[in-house]
Amino acid sequence: MTRPPRRFFIETWGCQMNELDTQRMAGQLMQQGLLPTREPEEADVLLLNSCSVRENAQNKVYSRIGEYRRLKRRGDVWIGLCGCVAQQEGEAALDRAPELDFVLGPARVGELREILDRRRSGERVVATGFPEERSFDIDSISRDGVYKGMVTCIEGCDKRCTFCIVPSTRGPERCRPMAEILQEVRHLVDYGFGEIELLGQTINHWREPDHGEATGADFADLLDAVAAVPGIERLRFITSYPRDFTERMIDAFARHEIISPYLHLPVQSGSNPVLRRMGRGYTVESYLELVDRIRAARPDVVFSTDIIVGFPGETEEQYGETVRLLERVRFGTVYAFKYSPRPGTAAPRLGGTVDPDVANRRLNELFAVQTEIQRELNRALVGETFQVIVTGWGKEPGFQTGRTPCHRMVNFEAGSAPADLGTMVEVAIDRAFPHSLVGRRVGEEGRPSGASSPLTVLSTG
Ligand code: 5AD
Repeated sequence: MTRPPRRFFIETWGCQMNELDTQRMAGQLMQQGLLPTREPEEADVLLLNSCSVRENAQNKVYSRIGEYRRLKRRGDVWIGLCGCVAQQEGEAALDRAPELDFVLGPARVGELREILDRRRSGERVVATGFPEERSFDIDSISRDGVYKGMVTCIEGCDKRCTFCIVPSTRGPERCRPMAEILQEVRHLVDYGFGEIELLGQTINHWREPDHGEATGADFADLLDAVAAVPGIERLRFITSYPRDFTERMIDAFARHEIISPYLHLPVQSGSNPVLRRMGRGYTVESYLELVDRIRAARPDVVFSTDIIVGFPGETEEQYGETVRLLERVRFGTVYAFKYSPRPGTAAPRLGGTVDPDVANRRLNELFAVQTEIQRELNRALVGETFQVIVTGWGKEPGFQTGRTPCHRMVNFEAGSAPADLGTMVEVAIDRAFPHSLVGRRVGEEGRPSGASSPLTVLSTG
């Protein structure tokens, strides 16, 4: 009897960094001869790439480990906890979940192969922390998706926002040299990826490493250099920190047409006292002024943001200021969350816990306000035509999905000759909803821009 091929399954939660880490782990496993599967039941190696930004996310990963326990009865099945919960919990995860075979922190992703070797010899490895030397091999990334190539520019974060666990799970800020970033971007373009997404928790804080701040290149120079790489169709970057946005960056953002007119600029709150307690280092006024300057330089820009409601001490009036900020800026998308206390952060010591029912009500109210804003913004797009990058198949039969330059989701009829994923098509917008647009293809046939489809290995939660 032949043994079936060894398979792996990775489940991913959280941010784009985790998405890319999953692609890196999948690539390393495939180099070892393992094949991806969509079915956890078929897998010999199960990796849970976790997020710990809110308590909910952390709880989810532990309950999933519990669900996978039964799969171990099948034989030699390994379960690895990866991502930010792995870093945060370390050894403790092995005690809490006896079925875990190893724990791998985000800064150690490049060591997966060694970890598996050690597991094979019977060790239950905990690999966490932030080594100086890290392996990062751009040739062993299993790029998931056919159009978007993600490129890490900064890892970690040196900010001290009082609510945020990321500095302790992703470690201190480390910038990759520009030459290395450009090499990876060129590599992606060579392999047909039309859209490049530059990644960093505070992407616009990128600096050329080993240079004094006065002499080294900064994010404005990086944008200039990346935008000059021939063959990129769309350039995006995430996430920008409001205080780190300089005039030169605004200028670069406005000057390069291939940079999407879309900017994720987390504000977190519309109230100065709350922002101060969050340790964000800017005021509502300076945030609004920045938004105005960026809009003046690039009038077609669409902003998105993150909001936390129910932060310790947030009064009804302060929450109301956040709602007014949403009405003033009119973001294209808002990611809003209920505050969740995280271990090792300063905010839980601030006192003034907001009643969970009150926080829930604020969150729902805020969503309702934002939904109306998006309904209005999207309605205004009916009748317009956009270059849309084709990203997949819609939920309704016969429909494909895509993204406009400003990252809005569009559903359009595939017709008799569906467009290849990753190609650009022109779509005229016929109908608008708060969270998506519906349109039809017009103009010439889509022109190819995407890579051929690699094996899909992700199941994102
Ligand atoms: N509670 C709720 N939301 C949080 N975020 C970060 N930390 C917390 C927390 N402790 C949100 C912020 C951040 C986004 C990624 O997650 O809005 O921008």
